[in-house]
Amino acid sequence: MTDKLTPIREALPAVQNQIFLNSGWYGPLPTPAQAALAAAMQDEYTGGRPNRRNLDRVQETRTALEEAFAAFFRIPLESLALTHHTTDGMNIVTMGFNWEPGDEVATTTIEHPAGIFPLYTIQDRYGVRINFADVGLGEDPLDAIDAALTPRTRLLSLSHVSYSTGARLPLEEIIALAHAKGIPVLVDGAQSAGVFDLDLAALNVDFYAIPGQKWLCGPEGVGMLYIRPDHLPTLRPTYANFNAIQSHDWRGRFTFNPTARRFETGTIYPPAMAGMQASLRWLMEEAGQDWAYARIARIAAYAREAIGSLPGVRLLTPEKRQASLVNFLPVGWSPAQMSGLIAALDTRGIIIRNISHVPYAVRVSCGFYNTEAEIDALREALAELLAAGPGAVTVPERAVQSGLSNEPVW
Ligand SMILES: Cc1ncc(COP(=O)(O)O)c(C=O)c1O
Repeated sequence: MTDKLTPIREALPAVQNQIFLNSGWYGPLPTPAQAALAAAMQDEYTGGRPNRRNLDRVQETRTALEEAFAAFFRIPLESLALTHHTTDGMNIVTMGFNWEPGDEVATTTIEHPAGIFPLYTIQDRYGVRINFADVGLGEDPLDAIDAALTPRTRLLSLSHVSYSTGARLPLEEIIALAHAKGIPVLVDGAQSAGVFDLDLAALNVDFYAIPGQKWLCGPEGVGMLYIRPDHLPTLRPTYANFNAIQSHDWRGRFTFNPTARRFETGTIYPPAMAGMQASLRWLMEEAGQDWAYARIARIAAYAREAIGSLPGVRLLTPEKRQASLVNFLPVGWSPAQMSGLIAALDTRGIIIRNISHVPYAVRVSCGFYNTEAEIDALREALAELLAAGPGAVTVPERAVQSGLSNEPVW
């Protein structure tokens, strides 16, 4: 283990007691985040809540968190709204257009519900048509995306990295394609933020939704939405909380908050804000973003080779689109049996997940804290389980109840 990795792993107890390869769902919490969460909870408990001292402290925490997010993603403070998670950001933007029947939106066939369910909602409510770009596994998506953009398209909504195939889409080119047609782009950054360098302002993306609890190693309940400043006057708030409006009277006159704060949907749990800020600072100052990104890429390449060389495995993540997720299908296994595979690995202390929607997958999330030895252990366990075959695993009751198919996917 390198000298740098030892203290990093020591600050992440959750990666010491198990082989943790599931940050695409939730990341491990670093010790400074746990300390900040605990201190803020204790302060609320003993000092009480809305008194002057507490209110000042919450405000300081909020400012520090906004500054940390802005520094991490190199964006101006006014362009940032705090959210609870990615889904919040995807909804805020999708619902923020004045949709009319006949308007169109475009997306891809490898999206998470966080992105497509808001689109289904505007289809249902306003008669907006959704054009799906069938991008396969995401290897060469440009032509399909181009074909889904019509003169009536008002928004392109898609993930930077697909949760189901692991493909990192060529976002710069996609944005250029959409902008050439005058179409803004909303990006689901759940599997990209904290995985590779993101300079959101330089990317010229219109809207970018980010969770705290995944690759940024934060607690649940805090995320961020970037809104390019020139969209602030035109995107409409749907859920107007006390941050939305700066001043009002009782005659219907009001002024919106001039910053992206106008889009916030509600109070964020202050201890979670404190924990999130501590995670971001720890990532920037202790781990170092460049070090973390380089290491994630290295471990993912190693895992790709280790898993892809196993007999009976079909890798789904296109090689040239590799980010931190290595997604694959065990040949001859059904979605229900794949849940059994995940459960069997869990009992061996190896934590990964399966994707229970088309295209279905077993997914390994490679973090900067993982080691080659952990990937070797995963490979060994997988080799054994795959050799024993799908009949040897027990399908968890949860998977049976949710009606997961018993037909082999591949
Ligand atoms: C691509 C993608 N988008 C959105 C989500 C949902 O994220 P959140 O819980 O932050 O809304 C996930 C993960 O669960 C995801 O992988």
